Amino acid sequence: MKNHKQFVKILGVGSYVPGKIVTNDDLSKIIDTSDEWIQTRTGIRERRIAAADQTTSDLCVCAARKATENANIAVDAIDLILTGTITSDVMFPSTSVFVQAKLGLKNIPCFDYNVACSGLQYGIELAWSLIESRRYKNILLICGDKLSAITDWQDRSTCVLFGDGAGAMILSATENEEENSIVDVLLGANGEHSELIILPAGGSREPASEKTVSERKHFMKMSGRDLFREAVKIMGNCAQEILGRNNMSTSDIDFLITHQANLRIIDAVRERLDISPEKVCVTIDKYGNTSASSCIIAIDSLIRSGKIIQGSKVLTVGFGAGLTWGAAILKF
Ligand code: UT7
Repeated sequence: MKNHKQFVKILGVGSYVPGKIVTNDDLSKIIDTSDEWIQTRTGIRERRIAAADQTTSDLCVCAARKATENANIAVDAIDLILTGTITSDVMFPSTSVFVQAKLGLKNIPCFDYNVACSGLQYGIELAWSLIESRRYKNILLICGDKLSAITDWQDRSTCVLFGDGAGAMILSATENEEENSIVDVLLGANGEHSELIILPAGGSREPASEKTVSERKHFMKMSGRDLFREAVKIMGNCAQEILGRNNMSTSDIDFLITHQANLRIIDAVRERLDISPEKVCVTIDKYGNTSASSCIIAIDSLIRSGKIIQGSKVLTVGFGAGLTWGAAILKF
């Protein structure tokens, strides 16, 4: 048996968004903006905002429970928790350990990784490698963020963009190649652009002080136009590269699911790949940019609406702070 190749099956997917809806009109009451500007520049109509006492791990646990239910797997069959987040409950320990405790799991290893909006693609690569090496059998991969906690609600250039949410996947070992869900993953990063989107203070570079608080450096800062250009270029390039190296074209793909940062970015990537709009999933209108969870929430919505079915092929592409990026071709 040991000589057989180990494949990875996506056993179940789940997602969670908080109940509170904040519309563009709601925002126009607290900052100088309008529904018209937000919709035309970003495609966002509304976003979900977590309750004050709801932490990132709470969002992650809700998504994890749905994923385990949909996978029809007992929670205690999970042997590793990986969480992609940039808004951990506290600086340390990891959000994953809070998730572990809340799920009532004991002793299994858990860790977080920080790649912002490329979290799904990086997480799949990690889970794939760890299962393929036969070290783990059932990995709970979660991407979740309470971005509202690091959003500057006085900065109209960023606060209209983000929302809170979480998505989870159970990735499990299988020896049956027919069940294999992961066709390929491609990752990349460029630290030279690390300042384009960043939370500047509170780390070792600028520890929290009265000055960092008064300068609002504990909130996200973003160079929107530069990021926009990079997002279109990089997501287009990495989608083309992963298709090319698998001798595939967009006609082999049933759905393209990109990170949901801006509808104009999604449209530009779609046009560059020459893929029809029906194959492109858009959730940004309802949820805004929810960081790494955006791709899982989109996948989950397509599964729930019966559009992703057995055999569907999905190309998912992420891009975010770092810069980091990644693409994965998945077979359901
Ligand atoms: O998830 C990580 C990756 N994130 C991204 O990839 C985000 C990429 N960037 C973007 O999506 C877009 O650059 C934004 C949506 C952030 C901004 O759109 P834009 O078309 O690039 O607008 P801009 O920043 O060039 O601003 C245009 C104008 C400015 O006014 P002036 O200088 O032309 O008079 C802004 O002050 O729009 C103004 N503006 C607003 N007006 C009303 C900026 N934010 C707002 C606002 N409401 N919320």
